[in-house]
Amino acid sequence: MPNRNTVLILAPFGRDAELLLGMLMSSDIQAKCIVEPSSLLDAVRSGRAGALMLTQEAFTPAFLALLTEALALQPDWSDLPVLVLVPGGMESPIIGRVEAALGGLPNVTFLERPIRPSTLASAGRAALKSRARQYEVERVSKERDKASASLLESEKLAAVGRLASSIAHELNNPLESITNLIYIVRNDPNLSADSQAHLDLASSELQRAAEITKQNLRFHRQSTRPVSITAEELFVPILALYKGRLANSSIDVITDFRGDSRVVCYEGEIRQVLSNLIGNAIDAMRTGGTLKIRCSCSLDWRTGANGLSILVADSGHGMSDEVRRRIFEAFYSTKGIGGTGLGLWVSSEIISKHKGHLRVRSTVGTRRQGTSFRLFLPDSAHEDDGQQTQ
Ligand SMILES: Nc1ncnc2c1ncn2[C@@H]1O[C@H](COP(=O)(O)OP(=O)(O)OP(=O)(O)O)[C@@H](O)[C@H]1O
Ligand SMILES: [Mg+2]
Repeated sequence: MPNRNTVLILAPFGRDAELLLGMLMSSDIQAKCIVEPSSLLDAVRSGRAGALMLTQEAFTPAFLALLTEALALQPDWSDLPVLVLVPGGMESPIIGRVEAALGGLPNVTFLERPIRPSTLASAGRAALKSRARQYEVERVSKERDKASASLLESEKLAAVGRLASSIAHELNNPLESITNLIYIVRNDPNLSADSQAHLDLASSELQRAAEITKQNLRFHRQSTRPVSITAEELFVPILALYKGRLANSSIDVITDFRGDSRVVCYEGEIRQVLSNLIGNAIDAMRTGGTLKIRCSCSLDWRTGANGLSILVADSGHGMSDEVRRRIFEAFYSTKGIGGTGLGLWVSSEIISKHKGHLRVRSTVGTRRQGTSFRLFLPDSAHEDDGQQTQ
């Protein structure tokens, strides 16, 4: 199989190919003889050639036309070096045709035969060197494309964030008015017991809505200082927020907060991460299941760091390998309009800011089907930040 650093030789006459290969190889130049013109064209089209070395006998009219076309279709960064060996000191119609077709291309070199082995080797070496520079251009331009794609993603994210916080902000005022109005009506002594119960329910649902908008605003405003907080304190408001959805989907919640598992973190951001993990777990258990949350102080065996370990495990539908590979990509979601695909992407940014890590395991189609996320937050992440203890 030809590779990107090989001179491909097409020399159909006599032992030409073998001799050229010998000359290049004895100078430590990677080379390979190709028998079928179509294989050489395939290598050119798929970018698997470092340079071409062709003798005039290779240039049938059909091959010349196909080669010219393949060279014209190269990507911007590519200018494949082509070395053409022609008989010295004589003109021939074939040479005229090849020169007319390829002579205009910047990286085609005509070498006259008989050629000294050292001249052939230096031409081969120079061709591969110029090809290596092209690969460098390809690498840099791929990196640039990647950087501008992630810039675009973060701009999209910032726009989504701004939109979410402005909606949350605008919702706050009417929510407050409704809360006040409900308060006034609840104090009406003529209210029946039924109406009173309905208003209590309306009031608690309203509180949930207010908490959602507040969380949203808190997240986008960003906490300025890390605080020391227990795992339980992190989870309680989130579980309260999801109480309705957990009950509607018949999900049992098992929590296990071991000891005084405490960590220093940007509280709002870590809540955002946990809230998305729980939201995802609920989405995966539409027909019921079990959500396990286990928190303990532990040691990260990879780094030896102490910290807080949080397990969020569900018995939901799990993920295929393909899905699991992509879950941390921005805008990747399998939920259609039900998801923006930003939850885990934002989470991974937050976790790396906390110098922690998030690992996932998922099983599909067995009795132990489900997904577990294990989050580790090291104690030492914010030693240099201004810490505010509670
Ligand atoms: N617990 C889970 N069980 C099964 N699939 C999951 C689980 N958690 C995440 N996924 C998969 O990972 C994808 C990405 O999750 P992510 O939280 O980033 O986005 P989302 O939930 O689709 O949208 P949102 O931006 O609203 O969070 C989900 O669409 C889902 O396919
Ligand atoms: Mg999500």
